[in-house]
Amino acid sequence: MNETKQKIIEKTVQFVKEELKNAEGGHDWWHIYRVWKLALQIGKEENADLFVVQLGSLLHDIADSKFNNGDEEIGPRLARNFLIEMNADSSTIEHIDAIIRNISFHKTFDKKKFNSIELQVIQDADRLDAIGAIGIARAFNYGGHKNFAIHIPGIEPKLNMTKEEYKKSDAPTINHFYEKLFLLKDMMNTKTGIMLAEKRHEFMERYIAQFMKEWEGEL
Ligand code: ADP
Ligand code: NI
Repeated sequence: MNETKQKIIEKTVQFVKEELKNAEGGHDWWHIYRVWKLALQIGKEENADLFVVQLGSLLHDIADSKFNNGDEEIGPRLARNFLIEMNADSSTIEHIDAIIRNISFHKTFDKKKFNSIELQVIQDADRLDAIGAIGIARAFNYGGHKNFAIHIPGIEPKLNMTKEEYKKSDAPTINHFYEKLFLLKDMMNTKTGIMLAEKRHEFMERYIAQFMKEWEGEL
C-alpha cells in the first residue's frame, strides 16, 4: 500500500477513536479495532483490496442507526464527508458508502442490492466479533445498557422476526443467542470466515449449556 493510502488509514483511526469516544462498550473503538484486525487477516487470505477492507472496517459503525433514533443516513454521510476531506478517490468513497449501508445484520432483512469481496470480508469480521467469548461479553453489555433481563424462562426466542420486530425487541439477552448469535455461523461469506466462526460458535454452545445448568443449580 502506498504512503498516501497509509496516511489516510492513520487519519481514519484517529477520526474513529474521536467519534466513538462515548460509545456503548460493545460498539466502541475496541470493537472497531478487533473488526479491523480480523478483516485484515481475512482480507489477505481472500485477496481483497486491503485499502478498502481497512477503511470499510474502520468506518462501518461510525454512527449506528440504533444509537441515532433509527437514522440510517448519518453513518454513510459522516464517512463520506470524512473521505472527501481526505481526498480519497470517488470509486473508493462509493464503495465504502455501499459497504456501510449493507454490512449490518438487520440489513439482511432487506433485499441485497450490493456485493463485493471487501463487503463480504468486513461483514465476516463484524460477525465474528458478535460470537465467541467477545460476542458473549458484547451481548450482555448491550443487554445491560438497555436494561434487558439476562434470562426469563418461558419467554421463547422469536425466530423469523421482521426487521421492525428485531429492531425494537427488548427480549432477555439469552434469547438474542437464539435469535441472532447462533445463526451467524451459517451466514459467513468467506472460507476463512467460516473456519474462524466454527471455533467461536462451539465455545458459545458450551457457554450456554453451562449457563442453563447453573440456572437450575446444577454443577
Ligand atoms: P448490527 O449492528 O450488525 O445490525 P446488532 O446491532 O444486532 O447488529 O448487534 C451489534 C452488537 O450488539 C452485537 O454484539 C449484538 O450481539 C449486540 N446486540 C444487538 N441486539 C441485542 C439484543 N437484543 N440483546 C443483546 N445484545 C444485542
Ligand atoms: Ni460492527
